[in-house]
Amino acid sequence: MTVYAVALSKGGSTKTTTAAEVAAALARRGRRVLAIDVDQQGNFSRRLGLNDDTEVDAVAADVLVGKASARAAAVPSPSVPGVDVLAGTHDLADIDHLPEVLTSLRDELPTIVGEWDDVVIDTPPALGMLTLAALAAADVVIAAVACETEAYDQLSRLVDVIDSRIAMRLRPGQQVHWIVPTRHDGRRLLDREVVEELEKVHPGKVTTPIREAVAAKDAYTAGMPVSVYMPDSGIADDYAAAMAQIITT
Ligand SMILES: Nc1ncnc2c1ncn2[C@@H]1O[C@H](COP(=O)(O)OP(=O)(O)OP(=O)(O)O)[C@@H](O)[C@H]1O
Ligand SMILES: [Mg+2]
Repeated sequence: MTVYAVALSKGGSTKTTTAAEVAAALARRGRRVLAIDVDQQGNFSRRLGLNDDTEVDAVAADVLVGKASARAAAVPSPSVPGVDVLAGTHDLADIDHLPEVLTSLRDELPTIVGEWDDVVIDTPPALGMLTLAALAAADVVIAAVACETEAYDQLSRLVDVIDSRIAMRLRPGQQVHWIVPTRHDGRRLLDREVVEELEKVHPGKVTTPIREAVAAKDAYTAGMPVSVYMPDSGIADDYAAAMAQIITT
């Protein structure tokens, strides 16, 4: 089982869009995937096709505090066969400060091996307990960095937090494994400079850039990963190339 977590504390940096692509790419490879939405905004759940009418017996917050099993809470994604979802709801706001949340995913996920082949966790735009829990559990940490200075700056913060809070004891040696530059427009100087700088500072960790495309937003409205919504688009090709770099199983 490989646990992937997508993180960056900058809001709107394309974490959820990218996490949905990781889940969809794994499912396309025949893997059974558990998608865990630990953001109370619930965008990951929504992008995987859940909506207000979806019936759930339990949600991600219940699993994180041990009130429900992942099996009991998981609901099949209506838009991506092979993916089950632990729904992100406002209940997560009530548990983001609880110390026991920190190690919950790290300790629980290995117990569900066999039910799912891989896990993908989408995190909120903050470095609170829920994000730290995901970082402590992840085998592969992916930073989704929209090509803008603010997101680039937050990448240093993510690296610092992993070094100071996670890599010493919670998850020895933890690091950012992959950086996915997104909303990239090769005609813009700033975008080219951001990718160049990322490659200079993080050699070997930067994937193919993902182009800016309105299909990403339309796909969200349709409740789908963009590669499912518009499989023949340029952005789907970009994500396929990036996922081929990240997913080695
Ligand atoms: N390549 C792209 N081109 C254009 N728009 C994009 C692209 N990728 C994502 N978006 C859009 O950018 C917005 C932010 O993306 P997303 O929700 O994935 O970011 P996020 O980091 O998860 O946000 P938050 O911090 O609120 O969780 C969304 O409207 C999404 O549809
Ligand atoms: Mg998000």
